Amino acid sequence: MFYATSNPPTKAPAGDLIEAIQDLKQAKNAVILAHYYQTPEIQMLADHVGDSLALAQAAEREGSDIILFCGVHFMAETAKILNPTRKVLVPDMAAGCSLADSAPADKFRAFREAHPDHTVVSYINCSAEVKAMSDIICTSSNAVRVVNSIPAGKPIIFAPDKHLGAYVQRVTGRPLVLWDGVCEVHVDISADKLKLLLGKHADAKLVAHPECPEHILAMADHVGSTSSLLRFVQDDPGDTFIVATEAGILHNMRKAVPHKQLIAAPANANNTCACSECPYMKLNTLEKVYTALRDERPEIHLDEDLRVRAHRSLRRMLELG
Ligand code: 13P
Ligand code: SF4
Repeated sequence: MFYATSNPPTKAPAGDLIEAIQDLKQAKNAVILAHYYQTPEIQMLADHVGDSLALAQAAEREGSDIILFCGVHFMAETAKILNPTRKVLVPDMAAGCSLADSAPADKFRAFREAHPDHTVVSYINCSAEVKAMSDIICTSSNAVRVVNSIPAGKPIIFAPDKHLGAYVQRVTGRPLVLWDGVCEVHVDISADKLKLLLGKHADAKLVAHPECPEHILAMADHVGSTSSLLRFVQDDPGDTFIVATEAGILHNMRKAVPHKQLIAAPANANNTCACSECPYMKLNTLEKVYTALRDERPEIHLDEDLRVRAHRSLRRMLELG
């Protein structure tokens, strides 16, 4: 078998690697979860592909011995919080997130202590420490519902994404105290290039993730989580869509609507894809998926007391449905 080799298979043809990963998955009773921002080859290998909420729910449902989470660190950590008895692996431990990194535990504790009467709503893109200090977690799919579930008049902290927070504030009309964090990928979408593109494609509809700043969302025909954007391009009668989020989602969108024209929103950065790519998500490769399954590492470990405290706020979100 290919996976019996002790050398990392960096030069193996993709077909061999895919077969080897599938063999390992079966032999070890492992499941592969992949976020929509993963490369197409990783998405094609995965048992479940989805947004943060769907993957958190899939992680909870899984009966496998091993969960290999192809996403970023906070997503795998969430899977571990929900599945303490399972081994949770990641292809690359360095796959972080600028939002999660914007809220270090000590600074977040001080912020929370400065607003003692506030309910703390934290976006799932945060560390286990921040989850443990939060009252309830949300994702971009349910942030509006989570905020609306808090009794009227109760003051609320929203962290760590100030753009998602500002969007939720506009939709719900609830004043929110915002943590000053951003997603480095969504804030880099170029409004000037986007306007030019919309000018060239007069019939195009713009769909945007709520991590984008307000001046981008103000131009959008639809704002929503990755799965909500996917649903919109499927259900809407339009033929052309400009997609303002990480370009990995285009793989699934193109599969769902091969007859429609899908254009990635342009980034300020002059990168090779002329689109938005999350550098952390893209650290994961087929080779790393293979070695993670073969060696059963890198593995997510969590202090049990911290896990139990983080689990409370996550559970509250999941119980909202
Ligand atoms: P979703 O919850 O829409 O999957 O978004 C996750 C994320 O990291 C967006 O940048
Ligand atoms: Fe984090 Fe932004 Fe990457 Fe999503 S796209 S994982 S929010 S850095």
